[in-house]
Amino acid sequence: MRVAQTTQELADELKGSRPAFVPTMGALHGGHLALISRAKQLARNGTRVAVSIFVNPTQFGPGEDYQRYPRMLEADATAAGLAGADVIFAPSVEAVYPQQRRDLARVPRLPEVATQPKLEDAHRPGHFAGVCQVVARLFDMVGPSVAVFGEKDYQQLRVIEEMVKQETDRWPGLKIERHPTVREPDGLAMSSRNAYLHQEQRADALAISRALMLARNANSPREAEQNMQEILQWHRLAVDYAVVRDARTLMPIEEFGVPARALIAARLVNVRLIDNMAAGGGETKDPHAGS
Ligand code: PAF
Repeated sequence: MRVAQTTQELADELKGSRPAFVPTMGALHGGHLALISRAKQLARNGTRVAVSIFVNPTQFGPGEDYQRYPRMLEADATAAGLAGADVIFAPSVEAVYPQQRRDLARVPRLPEVATQPKLEDAHRPGHFAGVCQVVARLFDMVGPSVAVFGEKDYQQLRVIEEMVKQETDRWPGLKIERHPTVREPDGLAMSSRNAYLHQEQRADALAISRALMLARNANSPREAEQNMQEILQWHRLAVDYAVVRDARTLMPIEEFGVPARALIAARLVNVRLIDNMAAGGGETKDPHAGS
């Protein structure tokens, strides 16, 4: 598997074509591999599949896990190749954020869904500025026709969908493809951060997906939120939020009637986990999906 480290090396691999693209921070697990397989399905007529591996410093806050984030480029490149990647793009921090050309990595205007819901935006200040900055920069460097993102980071997905809608001239025709969250057989959403969990914490972490499943069948958003809080606290999770929101805007709703999403962020000692599911029994496919 060819690992391109510069835009020139990447361009040599892509030969002017617009790839199907999966941006990642590496430490690839089954969830990432499913995104790569989806990109492969979407890549027709010789379209290549490009996977970026870049642990982006600007989306981590002070005290977060930037330094200890798992880095395993060789194993990742092999796994990505087996899942269908044609080229790995693993740029240096200097290549993404060149000191001499700061204009190239300007933070795009953040859409409302990145600042208003008071979910990840409130608990990780600056996070979405970093995500939008790096994703915009990667889109510029890779030039994809389609990019695949998982629903696991649901607010991130909505932020990127809106950012791309706002910047149609910058990435003409770019399609954002959603992929459902991939789960372990016991329901835990796959995440690179699951590697931090000790065995007994892992059992408590299952309360998150169980709480979300309860929300699916609740009669009202309020009832869903109460049920989720109860089960999370019983399992000693420190809850950042456990809420039901409008699936598009991520703003609070009084009743089910629009597509709704239940979202949880909770901590087990020093491991912070997030997950989400459609709520209220209604939404299986958000009509606003796929910009
Ligand atoms: O979801 C991730 O892994 C990251 O936030 C992303 C989209 C690759 C940007 O660094």
